[in-house]
Amino acid sequence: MSILNVIKYGDPVLRQKSKEISKINKKVIELVNNLYDTMYAKNGVGLAAPQIGVNLRVFVIDTAFGNEKPRPITFINPKILKLEHPMNSFEGCLSFPDAYTNVRRYKYVKVKALNIKGRPFILEEDGGTLLAKAIQHEYDHLDGKLFVDHCRNRFDTDAILTEKGLPPVDSNYLLDENEMEALIDDTETEEEQQQ
Ligand code: NI
Repeated sequence: MSILNVIKYGDPVLRQKSKEISKINKKVIELVNNLYDTMYAKNGVGLAAPQIGVNLRVFVIDTAFGNEKPRPITFINPKILKLEHPMNSFEGCLSFPDAYTNVRRYKYVKVKALNIKGRPFILEEDGGTLLAKAIQHEYDHLDGKLFVDHCRNRFDTDAILTEKGLPPVDSNYLLDENEMEALIDDTETEEEQQQ
């Protein structure tokens, strides 16, 4: 169990598509333990394997706050089955220290994955909760996508990234989400999260 360095935006490892895990062996268990140790040490809500330099399809999430009992969830070889109801999410990422911006997410997500024992589970989360957004954010990491690819305002996001000493938004990865954008209700509240 170790606290590892989180790879920063700009490193090509964050843009690689990760490979499925074929067997949950000791190495995978150690990787998952390291993800939890590193996520908790950095006060993150979620962490994906590529962020510690391993291009395998696994991420961990814990949305418990402060003194709440931990709620760790491990997602191995996850697949998103359904996304519905676009929303705004004011988001950060442990690979983008102190940089937050508004991105497009869905309120509802249905995902299937394996747990650390290799047992399949299905999780549905609605209402645009931190968990619903974190699942989408972490899942993206496994496909080499990053939260800024979903940014709602490219120029604002560039300014924030520059201020934090990070590279700007990359046009090659910027997602065209016009239909989604049109459906976002901007009267809803915002919250911060680092994943
Ligand atoms: Ni992230």
